[in-house]
Amino acid sequence: MVDFALSKHEQEIFDTALAFSKKWVVPYARELEEADEFPWILVQKAFDAGLMNSHIPKEYGGPAHSMVEESLIGEALGYGDGGIATTILANNLALTPLLISATPEQMEKYIKPFATGKKPQLAAFSLTEREAGSDAAAVKTTAKKDGDEWVINGRKCFSTNGHVAKYHSVFTSVDPSLGYKGMAVHMVDAQLPGVKIVMLEDKLGQRASFQAEVEYKDVRIPDDCLFGEVGQGFKIAMQTLDRTRSAIAALGVGIAQRAVDEAAIFANHRQQFGKQIGRYQGISFLLADMEARAMHARWATRYSAWLVDQGKRNTKESSCAKFFATDAAMQNTLDCIQIMGGYGYSKEYPAEQLMRGAKLTQIYEGTNQIQRMVAGQAILKDALVTELDTGFRLVYSGNDNPDPWGPREGEVPDLWGKKKSKKK
Ligand code: CAA
Repeated sequence: MVDFALSKHEQEIFDTALAFSKKWVVPYARELEEADEFPWILVQKAFDAGLMNSHIPKEYGGPAHSMVEESLIGEALGYGDGGIATTILANNLALTPLLISATPEQMEKYIKPFATGKKPQLAAFSLTEREAGSDAAAVKTTAKKDGDEWVINGRKCFSTNGHVAKYHSVFTSVDPSLGYKGMAVHMVDAQLPGVKIVMLEDKLGQRASFQAEVEYKDVRIPDDCLFGEVGQGFKIAMQTLDRTRSAIAALGVGIAQRAVDEAAIFANHRQQFGKQIGRYQGISFLLADMEARAMHARWATRYSAWLVDQGKRNTKESSCAKFFATDAAMQNTLDCIQIMGGYGYSKEYPAEQLMRGAKLTQIYEGTNQIQRMVAGQAILKDALVTELDTGFRLVYSGNDNPDPWGPREGEVPDLWGKKKSKKK
């Protein structure tokens, strides 16, 4: 039987995260954005509340959350503020490639301290370069073996928390002649000589999250900082994004739902022409569409996360969930502003901040065009199998038939499944 209910444990995690969001994020979101400082206080509180480092296994001191549980945390934090959510969830993104490929020794030495310290330790995901954004396989940052060390050279950008992180998970090219087959992932200690924070992005929204451009110049790291094998780097990056795109989708769900709630509260109070504006169809229909988007996005997101927990590949589903949920967040925040009119556009209310935050979710962790490309390719691949079941045969190819929608040649099954021959 299909069961949409959360388990007791899942409900507790969601309630904890939402209570955190409503207590510490919602009331301070504007202040945190305007402070233009890294929100260490909130990161510490999120760490203490067990909302970080979701996937570190229990044996290494972590909470060992499932992907569904992480998506619940993402939704709750997104409800508060996209920027704070991105800051808090960034460790999950940065640690996932390492968790996918670490040996038990690397887990003990490098991963465990993230979960067991008293203070939060941050990691930053360093894949993107100025000339390698959507084309993730085009990374130019190199890793060269020198004795029992690796030497890293290159420059990464849009690295969330890169300026405050203790470690960076850096995607490198070990053998550029092999393209993506020559890529690897290295864990770089950000305190080492040669690591330089070049600049921080000055962004439209999500201003309580920070993205760094980082230069690596002859940075020497120990041999055991290679995670997985040389040649696996690109696939590890893709497997990571399959998982973490569900989390970004969840963040989108949170923003989409917050937009519904803010708009509905306002529409219940705001009076024009002698009654609450929510009583007008023009407003209530907008609210209904917003709610439907948030609801659909939520279930697509949880399904995509659930597939990971079942040990199934979710490339298509996580891409679909990511673009659907973040497009929903964008549209809902725009509609929220529209319902609130001038107040929606004003900084007196949170709607405009939500909208600026939603925009980034359509861009990072793969633009929504890339998500549609990934999903489109997967659909075409699936169709190769479906084709066998449907008995499809190509009756029109090229320009030999002037009317592709006209009658087919040869046998045509009628409605009742009997076949009849068409006379020529
Ligand atoms: N799982 C496992 N393997 C995968 C895979 C997946 N999801 N996707 C691709 N692969 C494998 C393919 O099977 C293929 O392997 P074989 O050669 O053995 O068959 C290989 O990887 C190459 O695949 P493609 O030919 O499909 O690769 P591509 O170069 O065409 O690129 C892409 C694919 C999907 C466009 C990829 O480049 C991509 O995801 N780009 C977007 C990158 C991105 O999301 N960046 C965001 C970074 S994080 C961020 O935004 C910052 C932040 O802090 C928030």
